[in-house]
Amino acid sequence: MKKPAARFFRSVTRWEDLPDDGLPEVAFAGRSNVGKSSLLNALLRAPGLARTSSTPGKTRQLNFYRVNEQLYFVDLPGYGYARTSQEERRLWGRLITRYLQERPTLALVVHLIDSRHPPTPLDEAMMDLMRGQHVPYLIALTKADKVSGNRRAQAVREVERALQARAMEVPIIPTSAHTGLGLRDLWRWIEQVSLG
Ligand code: GTP
Ligand code: MG
Repeated sequence: MKKPAARFFRSVTRWEDLPDDGLPEVAFAGRSNVGKSSLLNALLRAPGLARTSSTPGKTRQLNFYRVNEQLYFVDLPGYGYARTSQEERRLWGRLITRYLQERPTLALVVHLIDSRHPPTPLDEAMMDLMRGQHVPYLIALTKADKVSGNRRAQAVREVERALQARAMEVPIIPTSAHTGLGLRDLWRWIEQVSLG
């Protein structure tokens, strides 16, 4: 796959500031430090485009990146970061929840879950939020390079179990921003939902 043309477009903290050009949006959601910004960079083969950090809470706004002038990648602030201020938590509660539920141009939600840990209660709350939504939704297990094949299979099963408990059928894709595992698969989904 050719390296996509990607550029930072806008940081958003208010509904009114969301782009109004109607391009489809692929949103990356998940807990702080799970690897959202890294996965976005790896997909775009643009290291450093979205800021990453070993300290959780790096991404604080909805950051829009324009890809091939055809769609947006939206890097969302992570949830579950204990030191996030009350105001920022409210922002997650309001703007991001509303974005995930009401945004007409939202074409795909990529929910990232760490391969090394079972889904957290907030990961399950995210599944609940997406349940009954009509937006295409998939789960990317991140940092797969850090775990054995056994643990990777176990991570898939744990997520499957959480989804089955909600009667949800959702693709689960093991990924690594470091080795490139799963990126082609992810691109296939992205192209299917956004360029069709
Ligand atoms: P917030 O913006 O704080 O919500 O975090 P984020 O979800 O955007 O995470 P980020 O991409 O900043 O990555 C967090 C840390 O995990 C960084 O130290 C990354 O280098 C590391 N990381 C991300 N993806 C991978 C991966 O696939 N493999 C490995 N080994 N480390 C990764
Ligand atoms: Mg980030």
